[in-house]
Amino acid sequence: MNLLLAGDFEAAERDRWHGALAQAMPEHHLVAADELFDRTRVEVAVVANPLPGSLRGLPRLRLIQSVWAGVERLLDDDTVPLDVPIARMVDPALASAMAETALWAVLSLHRGFYAYQRQQRQMVWRQLPQLRADELSVMVLGLGAMGLACVRALAPLGYRITAWSLHDTPRELPGGVLHTHGDDALFPCLRGSSIVINLLPLTPATRGLLDARFFGAMPRGAALVNLARGAHVVEADLRAALGTGRLGHAVLDVFEQEPLDAKHPFWRHPRVTLLPHAAALTDPRSAAQLVAANVKALLDGRPIAHVVDRARGY
Ligand code: NDP
Ligand code: OXD
Repeated sequence: MNLLLAGDFEAAERDRWHGALAQAMPEHHLVAADELFDRTRVEVAVVANPLPGSLRGLPRLRLIQSVWAGVERLLDDDTVPLDVPIARMVDPALASAMAETALWAVLSLHRGFYAYQRQQRQMVWRQLPQLRADELSVMVLGLGAMGLACVRALAPLGYRITAWSLHDTPRELPGGVLHTHGDDALFPCLRGSSIVINLLPLTPATRGLLDARFFGAMPRGAALVNLARGAHVVEADLRAALGTGRLGHAVLDVFEQEPLDAKHPFWRHPRVTLLPHAAALTDPRSAAQLVAANVKALLDGRPIAHVVDRARGY
């Protein structure tokens, strides 16, 4: 079978993916998008957030396998054929990485690390009030592969956790975690949340959800940890909320424009901690095995794992 590897990545990263995929599927022929190849023979596209139009003109395409968890760019690309299933990446290693980042952010906020960092720069020796974990309420937006892993990592530390999803489907949650769902539940929960972690997919319903009204509902001085997509946040509203002290701190991994422009005020904002979209990076070593399993399922005529529901948008 002929597979195409297409992505918005640098040469070294592309080579890493090429190597891992070729090793996991030695029986198949894999070409990278910048190689010369016959587009009419490609049956599976393995994609990493590909630029719009990358999958144009592939008449025999049967599966689009994303190695990213978020697939909004593919869903927004009207050159992607609607009759070809898109499978997204659901990898326990990716979820573990995300849980580690969420733990780091919550512990840093809880233990006053960012405030002490600011104090150190000013050579200020001052102890800040210390809260117990059970005095902090953490709200996790999105209870999918990522949100669930974060909830499971945070719960044993004793935080008061509320997780918000779209549907009321029962989940296996650690004891004490409150599960809410639907639009009506959001604002009442935000009112008591000292830390909000965003792990929603980017859909028409979630784009711009984190706006002035949203920040206005959070307790004064609360913190935002955005590990999902930049476009969930109305950036001007976030800046205003940080400026007035409505929000005390923001940990931001993702931005509307990536890489972040050199002139962007968040680079030097004293109340922003910034990561270069690195909260959880797909590891080619484990992900290639999952891609190979889905390619085998396709060939065997078995169900493809983690097919995106186009109508839902995730
Ligand atoms: P899933 O599809 O597994 O989970 C999505 C969750 O969001 C589900 O719980 C779903 O609810 C909920 N949801 C969707 N729409 C709404 C809505 N309108 N209101 C309330 N809840 C909603 O996705 P993942 O957990 O795998 O990934 C989530 C996102 O994380 C990705 O889309 C991506 O953007 C981001 N991500 C970021 C990374 C990074 O490095 N920064 C790395 C990996 C992912 P329900 O369960 O009821 O369907
Ligand atoms: C993803 C991401 O969606 O890296 O996998 O953001």
